[in-house]
Amino acid sequence: MKPIITLAGLVLAAASAWVQAEPIVIKFSHVVAEDTPKGKGALMFKRLAEERLPGQVSVEVYPNSTLFGDADELEALRNDDVQLLAPSLAKFEQYTKQVQVFDLPFLFDDLDAVNRFQKRAKGRQLLRSMEDKNLTGLAYWHNGMKQLSATRALRMPRDASGLSFRIQPSAVLEAQFDAVGATTRKLAFAEVYDALKTGTVQGAENPWSNIYSKKMHTVQPYITETNHGVLDYMVVSNTRFWMGMPHKIRFELEAILDEVSYMVNLEAEQLNQADRERIRQSGTSEVITLTQEEREAWREAMRPVWQQFESVIGADIIKAAETVNRKQRN
Ligand code: SIN
Repeated sequence: MKPIITLAGLVLAAASAWVQAEPIVIKFSHVVAEDTPKGKGALMFKRLAEERLPGQVSVEVYPNSTLFGDADELEALRNDDVQLLAPSLAKFEQYTKQVQVFDLPFLFDDLDAVNRFQKRAKGRQLLRSMEDKNLTGLAYWHNGMKQLSATRALRMPRDASGLSFRIQPSAVLEAQFDAVGATTRKLAFAEVYDALKTGTVQGAENPWSNIYSKKMHTVQPYITETNHGVLDYMVVSNTRFWMGMPHKIRFELEAILDEVSYMVNLEAEQLNQADRERIRQSGTSEVITLTQEEREAWREAMRPVWQQFESVIGADIIKAAETVNRKQRN
């Protein structure tokens, strides 16, 4: 018998395909405080997504490693236990070596140079470099340039010799400290303050906003303004989850992410400078400004790391970053 298709049936079928019974839940987990570039970006994403896709999307933000921490967040994402993360670029080593380009010391003069690289073809390409691992990069977010903090005043590279520094899980960062005679401990971000306080490590490298929001300045009497590297983020999702969303919702979320990324990247430097000033005014730590010669000595000491990682990262990628950086100097 032929099925009878009525107009009412068609309307009902179309409506049920259209009406979404439950909102799509997006858990956005991160490891920093809310008053940082990433913390603010996650909250702005939640606000805009829920305003523009009411009833269709619900975003839950978990800051300060309250849901997942450095050790397990990327695996949790791949297992779809969380749907959005923004790990620091140094945390992808296990999934791609190419992203380590961002860890190379003294490759970028400032955030503008980083920005230029991220917008060019090679930088964009890195967002897609982990899709075979079920990880899709959606955007870059800035935090800021890293500064060296320690129990000792660091003016020349030899001052770091014999100290132990906390690092993120990156072989490049390990080599960077090795180049100045220091040792390293790979620790999760949530463990850094205690490790500095108890003396498990004597130094660290962080942008001002992470130092201030986690009170690291209260346990580090010296902070040298080296700007020797960058700490930025890749906003990532589970590829199957992201691509599996209804197109209209995904496109709207991607447009929102573009808007949020623009704001995060616009305000990151300002936020870091404000935290630098707060640290200075707190009087807990001496903020050391390097002379041009002193900074050049750090650059010289750490520069061999580029060569060491050229074949791992890719000479073409390093060259592309170097080229956009040089533009600044012309
Ligand atoms: C972060 O900013 O997400 C943490 C970076 C770190 O582990 O130092």
